[in-house]
Amino acid sequence: MKDLWIGPEEILAKKQKYLMPCVYHFYKDPPQFVRGSGMYMYDHKGKKYLDFYAGVSVHALGHCHPEMVEAICDQVKTLQHTTTIYLQESIVNLAEALAMFSPWNIPRTFFCASATEAVEGACLLASLYTGRSEFIVLQNSLHGRTKLGMSLTGLSFWRTDPFPVGGISHAPVPCCYHCHQPENDNMQCALEIERIISTCTSGKIAAFIAEPIQGNGGITVPPDRYFQLVYDIVKKAGGLFIVDETQTGFGRTGKKFAMEHYEVEPDIVCGGKSLGGGTPVGFFSAKEEIAQAYKRPGASTFGGNPVSMEAGRKFLEILVRDNLIQSSFLKGQILAKGLQKLKERFPELIGDVRGKGLMFGMELGPSALSPYPGLTDSILEEAKNQGLLLGKTGPSRNVLTFMPPLIVTENQIAQALEILEGIMKNAPK
Ligand SMILES: Cc1ncc(COP(=O)(O)O)c(C=O)c1O
Repeated sequence: MKDLWIGPEEILAKKQKYLMPCVYHFYKDPPQFVRGSGMYMYDHKGKKYLDFYAGVSVHALGHCHPEMVEAICDQVKTLQHTTTIYLQESIVNLAEALAMFSPWNIPRTFFCASATEAVEGACLLASLYTGRSEFIVLQNSLHGRTKLGMSLTGLSFWRTDPFPVGGISHAPVPCCYHCHQPENDNMQCALEIERIISTCTSGKIAAFIAEPIQGNGGITVPPDRYFQLVYDIVKKAGGLFIVDETQTGFGRTGKKFAMEHYEVEPDIVCGGKSLGGGTPVGFFSAKEEIAQAYKRPGASTFGGNPVSMEAGRKFLEILVRDNLIQSSFLKGQILAKGLQKLKERFPELIGDVRGKGLMFGMELGPSALSPYPGLTDSILEEAKNQGLLLGKTGPSRNVLTFMPPLIVTENQIAQALEILEGIMKNAPK
């Protein structure tokens, strides 16, 4: 294995010179990662880091899972690429496995190379099926970085395009902590969607699209009845219900897909990330009748490539075989308890803790109106220095984010909490 590395300084210098200036990275003093194994990543000096962000919810099985590596390498050595103009079996086998895995009747899938494309495809399908072009999305959502993906996105931080696509209306964030409503009280956030449809659209929407739990938006968990109310409103307006399970899918929240928590059956599901086990993948799946609207030729050069498809199939097999969805729920409860304890111990630093399964956010700042983004950055940096990798999300960039691989152990959760507690004890008051 390679053991000579250029090091972080040279990477930063080349990045400065050769990458688009927009390419964003974490940390003032970023390490160069050169290896991953299970729950850990290693930098070029051999320092070990406990990974609680999983490459932004990608490595559900941990880094370089031996069976994933074997499946991927076998396929790389056999047939890497064909495109869908030639028949090969990996793509149909994964489509079948996905249809069997899904808790809903969404048997038809289109594969692409990223979740951004998957969102685009899902929206295209909704337009084809309904003959309409207007979309309702949520503030604080993230749906991609293409023109449409960015226009759907409800986070200013990620909305770079000065000329976004029209016909998109952003509805309020269903987050009780931020609107100071007792949970499930009057659900104004859901009812507001009816008002938005009747005032800001032609009344004829193609679809509503949302993440069941917002990832980049700061791990916002809508109240229990929220999506059921929204579903009825969207259906009344003749629109489709699309769920973006990019971060939340495949066991991350303790269910196969996070929309199961809300007992709503979507018309179209889109996602990517963990399905490819680190290889690039995106997909959208739909009900039979809706899929029938997409008959004109469609193709993706790398969508459905045999390497990602075999990775996806092995990933689903291991996820189910090793009971990781159930264990994500159980281990999530341990993580939740530990984070809540920290909140009780440091009320002046932590305003809220929320999430499901192994997807949690800890909002820093004593209240929703006083975010602490600077403290978030310093905790993120210090955690990294002490060998713990966390995420950072939210419109104010003040939500420490916990999305470890689903293989995390109780001991590793305890270890992460201990590091965090130590840092918070010494945080400037
Ligand atoms: C919910 C959601 N949708 C879409 C995307 C875009 O995914 P990709 O980077 O694979 O295009 C992301 C990326 O983080 C995401 O979190």
